[in-house]
Amino acid sequence: MSRIAYVNGRYLSRREASVNIEDRGYQFADGVYELCEVRDGRLIDERRHVERLRRSLEELKIAWPLVPSALAVVMRETIRRNRVRNGIVYVQVTRGVARRDHAFPPAGTPSSLVVTARSLDPGGNERLAADGIAVITVPDDRWSRVDIKTIALLPNVLAKQAARSQGAREAWLVDREGRVTEGSSSNAWIVTADGKVVTRPADNGILRGITRSVLIDAIKAQGLVFEERAFTIAEAHTALEAFVTAASQIVMPVVRIDGRPVGSGKPGPVATALRRDFHKHAEWA
Ligand code: PDD
Repeated sequence: MSRIAYVNGRYLSRREASVNIEDRGYQFADGVYELCEVRDGRLIDERRHVERLRRSLEELKIAWPLVPSALAVVMRETIRRNRVRNGIVYVQVTRGVARRDHAFPPAGTPSSLVVTARSLDPGGNERLAADGIAVITVPDDRWSRVDIKTIALLPNVLAKQAARSQGAREAWLVDREGRVTEGSSSNAWIVTADGKVVTRPADNGILRGITRSVLIDAIKAQGLVFEERAFTIAEAHTALEAFVTAASQIVMPVVRIDGRPVGSGKPGPVATALRRDFHKHAEWA
């Protein structure tokens, strides 16, 4: 089946789909994105993802490429044309096409919009979650506005590659005080020896993950103690459990950090139960 991408008003086969070389996304990484889970043909937490897109666009003063109701139609149509039942839909908005100049292009320059969707094998993710993943740690050398979901992801790319080259699936980024901020493409969590579920506060130092927000509801519903605070690498090494969250992975147990086993070295009961219950707390659209 040929895959279809939405590019600035047209649905094109992936072979034909392309953007202008003067697109500011290509020239300056001057754009933002969202990635939303598709499950049983439904969009998971669409409202929250679109709300975060609104915030990212506003923070960077990028105009909406379409009104949000039209974007909702394009997302669904892209999912439909690609026959995705379980997978992801990806939305990218850039400041549009203009002759290369760092300053913003003339007022009225239309933003660019690309929407793609692809199927993911739910079984593959489940197998990964059953085994758990390894993470490494690297210094967090990103800019100070990582709360905005921009497409400028070079430090994240380098961190992820460092993880892959060491046989791990994710890199945890560590601030100057030795505290974990988040993963290169996920939020980071631990379960302490006394059973508290801990993640860093959503200030400007992390992306406020949608999965993270929904999981806080699941944690409270399960009667677990939730603590929103930074934790150190040393604390993570002595944690009972660790896990990461992201729309494409939901709750993914972490079983090794820098080569050292976390807890029993197997996915723990807290992460496993939160993964099982996550979608009861998510919004299905
Ligand atoms: N990444 N932190 C970072 C740096 C991320 O890139 C992501 C998501 C998250 C989790 O956010 P959410 O729960 O809303 O997916 C946290 C996406 C999935 C990606 O870049 O592929």
